[in-house]
Amino acid sequence: MAIHFLVTTAIPEPGLQLLRDAGQVTVLAEPPDYGTLAALCASGDFDVVLTQLRDRMDAPLLAAARVRGVSNFAVGYNNIDVDAATRHGILVGNTPGVLTDATADIAMLLILGTARRVVEADRLVRDGRFSGWEPELLLGRDVSGAVLGLAGFGRIARATARRALGFGMDVLFAPRPPGDRHVSDDELGEFAGKVRQVTWNELVQRSDFLSLHVPLTDQTRHLVDDDVLQRMKPEAILINTARGPVVHEAALVEALHSGTIAGAGLDVFEDEPQLTPGLAALPNTVLLPHIGSATVPVRNEMARLSALNAVAIAEGRVLPHAVNPLLGA
Ligand code: GLV
Repeated sequence: MAIHFLVTTAIPEPGLQLLRDAGQVTVLAEPPDYGTLAALCASGDFDVVLTQLRDRMDAPLLAAARVRGVSNFAVGYNNIDVDAATRHGILVGNTPGVLTDATADIAMLLILGTARRVVEADRLVRDGRFSGWEPELLLGRDVSGAVLGLAGFGRIARATARRALGFGMDVLFAPRPPGDRHVSDDELGEFAGKVRQVTWNELVQRSDFLSLHVPLTDQTRHLVDDDVLQRMKPEAILINTARGPVVHEAALVEALHSGTIAGAGLDVFEDEPQLTPGLAALPNTVLLPHIGSATVPVRNEMARLSALNAVAIAEGRVLPHAVNPLLGA
């Protein structure tokens, strides 16, 4: 019987082509709601489902699913209950590596954009309020010499550090907040002597820009809450290109409103695509619609990788990028 792939949302052509070369492909016309997705996964009609971050693959859905695997079109996979998938023998794949630089670019863009008030400035010009050069028009902050605190020190944090060092920032990191572990100079590699490890608590207190680079887990949900915001410098800016729920967004809105911290650059939101009331009205924010990996080459490559994972699952081969590799071994 031909292999049948379910693609919940159309992905770029290079990925679809690989799937078509390997079997039959059903691409849904619009993103499925939970019930529709659960019914399709339980139907027995599909070998592999290619999912997006908005597709919630939780334990009840996976328990009833009759698929061999789930290939996520993302490096993050917090939308999938991987333990449940593993229990049910369902393979899970993701797309690491290819989006590292693009996402670090967006972190740097948010650092610069918040520091230099780019959204306010753009709006002023478009609104016809630009009446000529002024000595004190839209004064911002320098990033050179400012302390960048990286929460997490994985691929994307390191790529952000590389960029920040190029901008003359002083880079600190805490590798596994809220916990700590020591990172040796050997492990630091090219960064030894250039970035400094501090505790999560110190990172919170010392950062001018605090940039989040942790996966969303039970330990990191609401990592930045009211208590953390209160301990940040009043001039600090929070940058989030990781996952929205890592920040307690209502507490953030309150902190931005009251001047507890100075600003925020966000590419992700706690309840995407909804924003916490009040957030969009705050001038000291730069808000992006989760576009960390959104370049043409990166999305093509993510499509290819997610398709290669899907085909490997369907053909019973080892996945190029497995999330539950023991199952594939
Ligand atoms: C995007 O957020 C991803 O995890 O790839």
